[in-house]
Parts: sequence; structure tokens; C-alpha cells
Amino acid sequence: MPLIKLDLDRRLGTIDPNVYGMFIEHLGRCIYGGIYEPGSPLSDENGFRTDVLQAARGLQVPILRWPGGNFVSGYHWLDGVGPDEKRPSRPELAWNTTESNLFGTNEFIQYCRALDTEPYICANLGSGTMDEAAAWVEYCNREVGTSYANLRAEHGFEKPHKVIYWGLGNEMYGDWQIGHKNAQDYAKFARLCAKVMKATDPDIKLVLCGGQVLAHDRAAYLDWNWEVLDKCADVVDYIAYHFYFGPVKGQDPHYSTLAQPYHSEQHLRFLWQLIEQVRRDHHVAHPIKIALDEWNVWYRIHDNQLEERYDLTDALAVAIYLNMMCRNCQAIEIGNLAQMVNVIAPIFTSPEGMFLQTIYHPLRLAVEKSGPIALDAYVDCDTYSADYIGLPAVGYLDAHASFDEAAKKLFVSLVNLSKDDAQKVELRLHDADLVSEGQAHIVTGDAPDVVNDFGKEPVTVRSEVLADVSSAFTYKLPPLAHAVLELEVK
Ligand code: AHR
Repeated sequence: MPLIKLDLDRRLGTIDPNVYGMFIEHLGRCIYGGIYEPGSPLSDENGFRTDVLQAARGLQVPILRWPGGNFVSGYHWLDGVGPDEKRPSRPELAWNTTESNLFGTNEFIQYCRALDTEPYICANLGSGTMDEAAAWVEYCNREVGTSYANLRAEHGFEKPHKVIYWGLGNEMYGDWQIGHKNAQDYAKFARLCAKVMKATDPDIKLVLCGGQVLAHDRAAYLDWNWEVLDKCADVVDYIAYHFYFGPVKGQDPHYSTLAQPYHSEQHLRFLWQLIEQVRRDHHVAHPIKIALDEWNVWYRIHDNQLEERYDLTDALAVAIYLNMMCRNCQAIEIGNLAQMVNVIAPIFTSPEGMFLQTIYHPLRLAVEKSGPIALDAYVDCDTYSADYIGLPAVGYLDAHASFDEAAKKLFVSLVNLSKDDAQKVELRLHDADLVSEGQAHIVTGDAPDVVNDFGKEPVTVRSEVLADVSSAFTYKLPPLAHAVLELEVK
């Protein structure tokens, strides 16, 4: 029988709420036709789709990254401010389309205010310049009195937007990126941009562009991270890491997809060690954390719309990935699921309505049913081999426990990876007791490939009462299931 042992005093750290963030890019129908559709009967006076806003509010998004993604590396922010009729339409070279520029900086900030989320702007370090990056910070953050701050006021925004989080480019290592660079050139340019951006507003926090693990060139990832951290550690606060995943070719699609978060975890731990080593070597006193600012299951569709339909396996993979991020809370302080609407997204629209994809539900549970303190859960369970990605033993049971001390609530997030077998999980809590009645919030379905659609959402959250809870009790987790146990500490 699988066993989980918990102790409220054995803590991994505090989970930064920013790990539950989202990302929106000018790509396909994410912005236009997703969050923003002026003239639609479903939109408000700002052109924001209210049905989408409501669904996004359910995710309590703490931080929203914009405008890209690959898009940002050819984006000039001045095109997207001021009167609509003066904004130029431009060829969009990252996704081969046309950008109307009707959704720009001020629309993004208004959207963030409507969603009650912190804006995170990624600057253009591809075709952009140092001056342009610093001017964007000035436009957003300085009090009136200088030209770009005055321009903001002319555009109707007297008070600064106070954007704290800024990215130093997107995936600059990849030859798919406009203006991509080698590590040396990027590090040099990022450092220069970082200095003028911080000089413009010393309160901002900067995210350095970290490398991505590419199957064809693993060494490049290490070299890149080493070089950029070595040159920029003293001027940045985070390093970005992107991870998209899906089944491994030739392997069971379900089990190989679900092994991927652990594969990612290995790389993240390595990156964390590298960060700490560079900080030590360079005597960098301030913390540098990992911003996992693009992550998701994504493997089916590679056109310029990316309208991936998610199934139950994907929902379980997202639940495991969220658990993994929380278990690594000392290292990871920002997470942005890519993306929020239509493009590899939990929310899917048509001009007439929307539905929630399977992956919406673990995302919602992660933020709604969790506490700020990550506990060090001991897990013993059967395993399978994912040797093909260097993992000899992946547990059939994934678990993450969190504690809300003020509310005296313990949350245990579980995933049963098995397609066939229920698992009777024995939970033992050391040196504390639980109120005898709790709740279980469950996401499950009949088959790994079950999907949601307009008017038909078989994968959702079902909540049920748990009776006979105590400091040692058993919970039967169905196959193909994610459950969060909500328990009250006496
Ligand atoms: O999220 C889709 C794309 O994936 C982003 O534009 C890019 O940063 C990444 O490669």
C-alpha cells in the first residue's frame, strides 16, 4: 500500500504565489479573439471578453507575462500606444501574420488591473535597442516630467503603471528567434540593457533569458546558462527556464508524458546549483531565483495558431508539474503557464462562447486548495522505469503537501499515474491530529484521452466529503486521478 508521511515541522520553504502565473502572447487567437475582442457582445467597454475574464479570475492569476514569446523579439512598443487610428499595422515575422497593434502596453496594464494581477513585460532584445528597452521602463514607471512618462500621461495615464517584472528578451539562444545571439553576445547586450533599465527605475526586477534543454544539444543549455549568469548575475533577479513536454517517441504516450516533469526537475535542480555557485563565486548578495516563465504540455500542433486540445493525461501532467514546482519552492519563484487563452491554453473560445480545457482544473485547484508552506512529504509507492529519459524509477503516486498555518489547513495534492489501478494511500501525520471530516477535490475521467469541448466538459472537479479522517487514515485514489485533500488540523 502506498504510504505518505507528513510532519508539519518538516518544511521545504514558502511557495511564492507567483508560481501560479500565466502568459499571453500576440500569437494566434490568444490576444485577438481570446482575451480581447472589441465589438463582441461578450466583451466589455474595453474590448475584454468578460467570459474569459471570469474564467481567468478562477485561476487567481498572480502575474501575467506579455507580449511574447517569439513575438516580442520583433515588437516595438511605441507602435502599440496612443490613438488607435495612428497605430501602424505591421508584418509580424515571428508567426508570419499581421499585427494591428490595437492591443498594446496600456491595454495590457488595464487587463492586468481587471484581472487583479501583476504585469510582467518581456522586453525586445532581438530587434530592439537599449534605448528602446529603457524608454519602455520610463513610459511605464516614471512620474511625469520626462518625455516618455509625459507621453504616457498624454495617452491618458497620469500615474505610472509601476511594472515591477521585466524580462531581458525571450529564448535568445534559438535560431527561430528574431535577432538571436550566441551566449557571449546575449550576455553582453543583456547586461547593458539591464543597467539602463534599472537606472531608469531601480525598483524593477529583471529576468535573464536562461537556456532551454534541447534534445539535439544538451551541452548548449549548460554553456548558455553558465555564460549568461557569469556575466549578468550582479544585475538580475531571476533566470528564465522554459519547458514544453509531451510523450517520448516510441514509448507509452501516457506514462512517458507523466515522467517528463521529473526530467524537468533534474534540470531545474542543476540550474539551481549553478545559480548558487555563480552567486558564491561573484559574491552576489541578492537572491537569484528561477522564473519558469513558459511551461506546459505541448506537442500536437506546430502551426501559427497552436490550438492544442488537452486530454486527461495532460491534466495529470500539469498537476504533477505544479506539485514539482512547489516542492522546489526554494529555487522557483515565478511560473507562467504558456499560454492563458486558445494558444496551448486552459481556456478555449469561439466568437460565441468558451469552454474549460482539462488542464484548467489542476491549475485552479493548485491555487485555490493550497497553503503557503511546502512540506517535505515522504512518499513510498510502486514505480515504473522511464530509463529513456534517465529516470529508472517514476512513482505511480505523485504527492505534494502544503500547510496554511493561519487557517490550520493541510492540503495534500495527489496524482495517481496508473491507468488501471486505484491506489489505497495510507496517510500518516506525525505529532498532530486532524479534524475527522475533510474534503477531497477530484479530477478524473474514464480514459487517458478524454477531452473537453464546447458544451461538453466531462473532465471537471468533483468534491466529496471525507469521513473518518485522523492522524493515520487511508484514502482510495481512483486510477487516472488528481485529488487534493483539504484537511483541518486540530
Ligand atoms: O508559447 C509558444 C512559443 O514557445 C513562444 O512564443 C516561445 O517563447 C516558445 O518557443
